[in-house]
Order: sequence, then C-alpha cells, then structure tokens
Amino acid sequence: MSEWIEVCGLQDLVEGAGVAALVKDTQIALFLLAGKVYALNNYDPVGKANVMSRGMIGDLKGQPMVASPLQKLHYNLETGACMDKEGVVLQNYPVQLKNNRVFIEV
Ligand code: FES
Repeated sequence: MSEWIEVCGLQDLVEGAGVAALVKDTQIALFLLAGKVYALNNYDPVGKANVMSRGMIGDLKGQPMVASPLQKLHYNLETGACMDKEGVVLQNYPVQLKNNRVFIEV
C-alpha cells in the first residue's frame, strides 16, 4: 500500500541537481529543476546501478530530463520514461510540498 512520506526539506535540495534518499528501503532520486521537485527511482535499469541522483538534469526537446551518468540515456523527470529507448521506464513517485517540506508517495 502506498503512503505519503516526508523525505526532507526543500532547502535540502539543490537547484539543478539530484540527491538520493532512502525511503521505505527504496533508493529514491530527488531532483529540483526550475523550482519543481521530481522523484524517480535511483536505480538505473540499463546501467544496473543506483546512480540516477548523480545524473545531469535539464531540458531536452522541451521536456525536463535526467541523463544517467552511465549510458547517458535520458529519462523524462515527470514520467520516468526513457527518451532514447522504447519500453525502458524508471518508476516515478508523486511529489507534494507542504510548508517547504517534501513528501513523496511510495
Ligand atoms: S542517448 Fe540521449 S539523445 Fe540519444
């Protein structure tokens, strides 16, 4: 069953970068891009390592994306869908901000 978990404060995140957090035994990669928070699974399914939080983030073809530090595949930050490889998806998690605290649904 999924529930909303408080992960950190907004001030713990760095604009234009990612951080990893352990939530319910799952490594989550949190990103802050243009003031918006995104949460994806930290596990790179192609590179097979927990590295997504170290990926570069930005805008690709008008979509917010993170590039895996390993194979450099690009994933949409909103949906987790790989923009380069059909059928590859990172799990994404709904994010809510309350009083500058970050909550994700896992
Ligand atoms: S690997 Fe990123 S655009 Fe092709």
